[in-house]
Amino acid sequence: MRRAVYPGSFDPVTNGHLDVIERARKLFDEVIVAVAQNDEKEALFSLEERLQFLQDSIGKIDMVRIAQFDGLLVEFATAQKASAVIRGLRAVSDFEFEFQMALMNRKLEAGVETIFLMPKEEYTYLSSRIIKEIARLGGDVSSFVPPVVSKALVRKFAG
Ligand code: PNS
Repeated sequence: MRRAVYPGSFDPVTNGHLDVIERARKLFDEVIVAVAQNDEKEALFSLEERLQFLQDSIGKIDMVRIAQFDGLLVEFATAQKASAVIRGLRAVSDFEFEFQMALMNRKLEAGVETIFLMPKEEYTYLSSRIIKEIARLGGDVSSFVPPVVSKALVRKFAG
């Protein structure tokens, strides 16, 4: 069983994330989409909301499992018997941090390989941070995120 973990804050999940999940699914028998609980970043949505958005968007896709994790990513991956960590790489600007994280994770646990996947070109400019900013300023984000997220963002910033 080739299993991969796709970790992130998913605050909130975007169409770019969904594209990476689809790509990963073609390469692995099972993909565990893992939401970080203890990310240092201040999240807009609670862990429960972020998990629910994923559940509503990809919960029915075969061989994709949604999970939450606390602590070190490589420890979670090992416990799940996953041999790879998937990360999306959009632009050169992502590379430095991702490279550092991949090498550190390999130092911590040599049995877990990081694999970078590039989302579809039209998603390369998408990020959860930018989506939140557009939504906060009243912009329409419905073509960038799943419908459940778009509605939640409108509710969050209404009034
Ligand atoms: O979506 P993000 O915010 O870019 O995801 C970052 C995440 C959650 C993958 C990263 O912060 C992480 O792996 N956190 C778990 C703690 C850990 O293992 N840190 C050491 C990484 S070298």
